[in-house]
Parts: sequence; C-alpha cells; structure tokens
Amino acid sequence: MARCPQAVLRQRAPLSLLGGCWLDMISQPATQPAIFVNRLYAQHFALRGGGEPLDDLHRQRRRSLEVAGIDLPEIAAADFLRRADARPLTSLHACFYLALSRLPANFLPEVVGVHYAFYALAVDDVLAGTSSRLTEPELRNLLTEYLTFAGPDERRRLRCAVALTIRLEREHVAMLRELASWRAGLSLESRVADIIARHAPMAGRQHGRVRVGDALLADRFSDPHLEVAQFLREFREAPQVQTRTADGISPFIEAMKFGGPMFGIFTEHEAAVFREWVASAQSGERPDIVISPNRVGDAAATSWLDAIASSAPPDIQYASAAPRDDREWLYQLINIENFPNTLPLAEARAREHLAAAELLFAYGASGRYTDASYFDYSAEALFERGERVYWDKLVNPYRPLEQIPSRDEVVFMQTTYALGSLIDGAWIHRMANLGHRERESDEKLFAIYADEMGHGDLRKNHITLVHRVLASMSIELPHIRDEAFMRQAELPDELYPSGVFQLCMCMFPDTFYNEILGYNFGIEMFGSGEFRLHEIQKLRHYGFDDCYEQAHLTIDNFSAGHTRQAADIIVSFLDGVRRASGEAAVQREWRRVWRGYAAFSYFVEHKLVRQVTVPDTEAVADLVI
Ligand SMILES: [Fe+2]
Ligand SMILES: [Fe+2]
Repeated sequence: MARCPQAVLRQRAPLSLLGGCWLDMISQPATQPAIFVNRLYAQHFALRGGGEPLDDLHRQRRRSLEVAGIDLPEIAAADFLRRADARPLTSLHACFYLALSRLPANFLPEVVGVHYAFYALAVDDVLAGTSSRLTEPELRNLLTEYLTFAGPDERRRLRCAVALTIRLEREHVAMLRELASWRAGLSLESRVADIIARHAPMAGRQHGRVRVGDALLADRFSDPHLEVAQFLREFREAPQVQTRTADGISPFIEAMKFGGPMFGIFTEHEAAVFREWVASAQSGERPDIVISPNRVGDAAATSWLDAIASSAPPDIQYASAAPRDDREWLYQLINIENFPNTLPLAEARAREHLAAAELLFAYGASGRYTDASYFDYSAEALFERGERVYWDKLVNPYRPLEQIPSRDEVVFMQTTYALGSLIDGAWIHRMANLGHRERESDEKLFAIYADEMGHGDLRKNHITLVHRVLASMSIELPHIRDEAFMRQAELPDELYPSGVFQLCMCMFPDTFYNEILGYNFGIEMFGSGEFRLHEIQKLRHYGFDDCYEQAHLTIDNFSAGHTRQAADIIVSFLDGVRRASGEAAVQREWRRVWRGYAAFSYFVEHKLVRQVTVPDTEAVADLVI
C-alpha cells in the first residue's frame, strides 16, 4: 500500500468500496430458493463479515484507505465522488456495477460473471497489499457450478460479463497508471492550477471585494470558463503573492494560517504546494505557465458515453396502468425489475395502508395476537409491551388441542399462511445495502435477513422449508415469480393484501425505514406461541412436515431470537435519533415505527378491524382503551 500514490488509491476508492454490491439483492422473493442463488448468497455473507460487522470487506477497505491518509465520507454521501476526485471514467464504471446491483434477478448470468472476474482479478487486494477474501479456486468452483445449470444463452451472457469486467478492470488500472504518471510529471504551476481549478467552483462570493489584476476574485472563480493559466500569470505578480509579510511569507500564505480568512480551506498537502509556488514566484522565477489539465481516462469515458447514448434496448416498455387485481400486484412486485412503473403505485398503496392501520392506535389492545394501541416511547415501555403481548397473547394461552380439525381443514389453514411464508424475510431484503450500513440497526437487520435465508445454506433457508411443508401436503405451485402463479388455485385470495402490502413497503427501505422496523417487530413476534404450537400439533397428526413452524419457534423467540433482536433494533435506531436530534424527534420517529407494527397487526386482527370499521357505535366504544 505504501508504494501506491495516494491519488491512485483515492481514485480507486469508489470501485473498491462498492465491490460486491451486485450481491446486495441477489436474494429476493423472485430468486429464492434457487441452489445457485444461495451459493452466491453464502459468498455475500462471507464478504459481509459472516455475522461480524467489523469484518465486513467494505469496512476493511475503508480502514485501509484511512491508514493511507485518505479520509472519505460514506459512499452514499452527496459529496463522495467529489471528495474522491473521481474522474468521469471512474464514475461510469461505478455506475455500471451499481446498476447491476439493482437488477440482479434479470441479470443473474452477468452478476455471476462480474463477481467471478472482479474478485479473481483482485485489483483492490493488489493495491491494498491484502489477501483475497475469496480465493480463485473458490470462485472458479462457483463458476463451474453455475455452468452446470446454465443454458447456451446464459453461458454466452456469462462470458460477455467476464470479458466486460476484465476490460473494465484493465481500463481502470491503465487509468490509474496514467493518473500516477500525469501527477509525477506535473510542473509546480500545474499542481497549483489543479488545486485552484478544484476549489474555484466552491469559492462562491467568499472573496468579497478582493481583486487580482482588474477583476474581482468572486467573479473570476464563478466563471465556468476560468482561464487558470492567465489567472496564475496575474496572481504571481499580485501583492497578495509578492508582498513579504513580517514573517517573511506573503499575505496569501498568511491568510491560510490559523486565524486567517482561508484557514482550513486547503489540506496540508495543498498548502505546501502553494508555499513552494509563492517562494519560487518571490525569488523571481518566471517559468512559462503551461498547464497540463487532468484528462485522465476521458477518451475511454467519452467512448462509453457515446455507446450508452446510442444504445436503445429493445425490451424496455413504459406503461403506467395499475395492476388489475392483487394477483397481478403480487406478480409485478415480485418481478419489480421488469415493472418499475409499479413503484410509485406501490409507494402510494403502502402509505394508504399505513394511514389506515393507525386505527389500531385506539383499538389495538383488543387484538387477539397483537396490541397495537399507542404508547409513548421509552425502551422500557417497548420491552414491557413486547413481553406482555408475547406471554399474554401468544405463549400463555397455549393448551394442546383436544380435537384436531379434519385433514382438509388443516391443509386449508396452511394454505392461508403459505403466501406469507413464500415471501419470508422480504420485508427487509433491501435493507443494509451499499450506502445504507452506517447504523447499528442496519447491520442487525442484515443479520436477521441472513438468518431467514440460512446464510446461504439451502437446507436452512426458510423459503426451502415452506416448499418442503407444501410438498408434504402434495401442494405444488409454480414459482412465485412466474406468470402461472397468478392463476394458482391452491392459496386463497384473501391472503394477498398482506403480502402485497409487505412487498409495496419493502421496495422503499429508506422512505419506510421506521415503519419496516415496527413491522419487523410484529412479524417476528408472530413466529412464536400458541398459534404455531397448534399448527405443529395439527401437521404432526397427519404426518405433514412441520419444519417451517419448528424453525420459527426457536429462531423468533423473545429471549435472544429475532423478536428480541427486532426490539433491540428499534431501541438502537431511536437512540441514534435521540443523540442526533433530541427527545422530541424520538417521539415523532417512534410514531412511524409503531405505525409499522400496527400495519402488521391490521392483517392479523382482521376480525377486530372489521368490528371497528363497521359502524356499531356501542360495541366500538367498548373497545377503546
Ligand atoms: Fe422466517
Ligand atoms: Fe424470523
């Protein structure tokens, strides 16, 4: 690392930090529980630290950059690319990987190809002097395995993606080399010009009435066509540079010192370049000012931009018609990569349901399995509510069934849960993606989702478990992503609204962050208790597979399981709000969290909801807490 110039590492930082983002959403309802997707997910889980956030490769890369003296904001920060001095070519490469990360279900062969080539080349490990997290044989095994599943078209696409990634990485490395030699060959004037060109657009009206030559600095620096060479020619003759102050320096250098108007504007390195330049100008040196502008990578960037501008993918259609019914809603949401026009409709639908669910703020205490009645937040109050619902409504009412319903009834009951189970974990599948991992709550949500997907181990994947249960009852369904699923006749229509709502909300992990935390608490808690135990008893009675129910009894409990973690996540998130914005903000944010819980409760307590929405004033008045 020490041998690598800082400017090179800084230029590489955007790609280094987003490496692997193409696996962020590889696991989703449209792709699960495919064997190969789980192989990829297992590698994703390993790259993310295998449950240890500090071992996350992204964090490790960031630490390496910091050790090399490169301090950058989080990758999602608005000024990240500017602070990384990203050349247009770097930004374009980064956009390609990010775009791929948004469409992994449609571009699975490409994801595999990019993943293999990017990590097999291991450019970032070479630059950082680290060893690769994924060895080439591991990566090759994965590739070989994929090829056994892939048809001719997928193989062709995979080869294209490998070739493209090799080309991109070669191009980027060549650009880094070009950058290093451009910087090494810069004259002192060019180095000064580079700093001025970088800072001028941010100067605004800061220089007030200060002039250099005939013009106000404020005017010169706001001119997008600033002639830096001409400016330097005038500036080196200006009193700001030529006058010697009492310290033997110049007013310009003086202004950068502590107490001066430009203190803190430039880095120490930039200030040193200015000092050297002022000393040379004061000593009478007048070299020709020939500025070699930074055009590193621009030829390649231009040819990519031209290619992108002139391409017109034939398979893109724009349409804004709303889905016909909930079956079509579900189909479009599962296949959202192909129905981006559904997104605004999904957001509106999620908002509508969240608003409706607030009804339970008043009536929720009468819920059979939940209590969404509102309370002011404190961590203690949240745990107290959680404990009470868990024990009083879910666990303690349990008595073994004395009579087991008929086989058909048991099967029917299971089919009413199956749709929700087929999208298990979906409510958080988009959390903790690249750029959204800063909060402790993000990492904890990632950990819950990874558990739901068995950390990439197909046998422990909850979607696999649902399929096992359904198979034991001889229920066969098309894959939930297939068009044929819209016509399936096994799962009743009544269950679609809750699945559709969940998918609508989860498309917006930032917009509905708080609500998802509350929903997560509700749904995880529902994995335990009387209701599950009864299902287990019924399934066993008829010799059906009860693995799905069993798994949830243990993993979702309130002592250390997902329910407890879900409560901890809310506490951790609101603690962050308190520290950043104070107690009043906590209660505002909390109200949204609890709306998320109510939104879950609204479906579970459909009888109660019906009771309070059908106008029978007296009965309703009894339900208000
Ligand atoms: Fe689950
Ligand atoms: Fe869970």
